[in-house]
Amino acid sequence: MIELSGLRRHFGATRAVDDVSFGVAEGHVFGYIGPNGAGKTTSMRILATLDLPDDGDALIDGFSVVNDPDRVRLRLGFMPDFLVTYPNVNVREYLDFFARAYRLRGHVRARAVQRVMEFTGLDVLADKPTDALSKGMKQRLSLGRALVHDPAVLVLDEPAAGLDPRARIELREMIRALARRGKTILISSHILTELAEMCDTVGILEQGRLLAVGTVDEIQGKHHVTPRRGVAVEVLDGADRLAAWLTGRDGVAELEVEGNTVRFVHGGDRQDEAALLRVIVEAGFGVVSFTPRRQSLEDVFMKVTEGRVQ
Ligand SMILES: Nc1ncnc2c1ncn2[C@@H]1O[C@H](COP(=O)(O)OP(=O)(O)OP(=O)(O)O)[C@@H](O)[C@H]1O
Ligand SMILES: [Mg+2]
Repeated sequence: MIELSGLRRHFGATRAVDDVSFGVAEGHVFGYIGPNGAGKTTSMRILATLDLPDDGDALIDGFSVVNDPDRVRLRLGFMPDFLVTYPNVNVREYLDFFARAYRLRGHVRARAVQRVMEFTGLDVLADKPTDALSKGMKQRLSLGRALVHDPAVLVLDEPAAGLDPRARIELREMIRALARRGKTILISSHILTELAEMCDTVGILEQGRLLAVGTVDEIQGKHHVTPRRGVAVEVLDGADRLAAWLTGRDGVAELEVEGNTVRFVHGGDRQDEAALLRVIVEAGFGVVSFTPRRQSLEDVFMKVTEGRVQ
């Protein structure tokens, strides 16, 4: 549904987007991550037909952003990283205006506005002036605006920025619900743990170049990120004994004891973790919990990017 090929956009000497190619299949959520200035917004604006590439192209549902921008706009909803609001326009009027811009008429338009207000939970604020909305409610309005013409593809530029924890979780649930309905979603963020929960695939961008694409596991494999996994084992008692028992076992390192919990990292995989849990229990330790900690997207991000700025 989304296909970038050789996309390039330079501003003078700045290579904001430098030969970026990747695709997102229908119903998938793609996480676009990269440090400030990496080129996320620039490439998303090109997808949303707000800017043109210097070279390369991008297809939305098979239509070129360069040659067929009108068809692209009908199929794509863009949530920019800021929302312009107006003092004398309330939530319903605001959404209605954009529904008109998409040429929705009569009952169809009224239903579209109502559907979007219900989905985003803005129906209770329908009469509130848009400039009086909180940050979280503005983000909902921005998402609602992107959804009003029921596009198949959504491009969301840092939708979670500036939201409190509850608003973030609610936004995440909305994005998951949209993915379940078959929407194809490209989402940029700095909140990596959250992206990892929402996205099937991620792309890591730095200085306009796509450094890595794939699932977090694939990227780890390709970039030889040390595949160490952490585990926390909580026992009824005898944490020190367990630590001593674990010392010197194959691949176990960085052992530490805190209260009844023993933490360590190891070089094995899930099978090894299952086997390890079994032998710990068989050795007579009263295991209360055994919690693996996968290497996080943050670890991968720090390994793949180098902190270069331009
Ligand atoms: N209109 C413009 N004119 C000149 N330079 C620009 C323009 N737009 C973007 N740039 C430059 O292009 C680069 C990429 O910017 P972009 O906004 O796409 O990054 P980003 O990944 O979205 O960053 P952030 O995480 O801060 O939002 C930056 O170096 C930026 O200064
Ligand atoms: Mg940006």
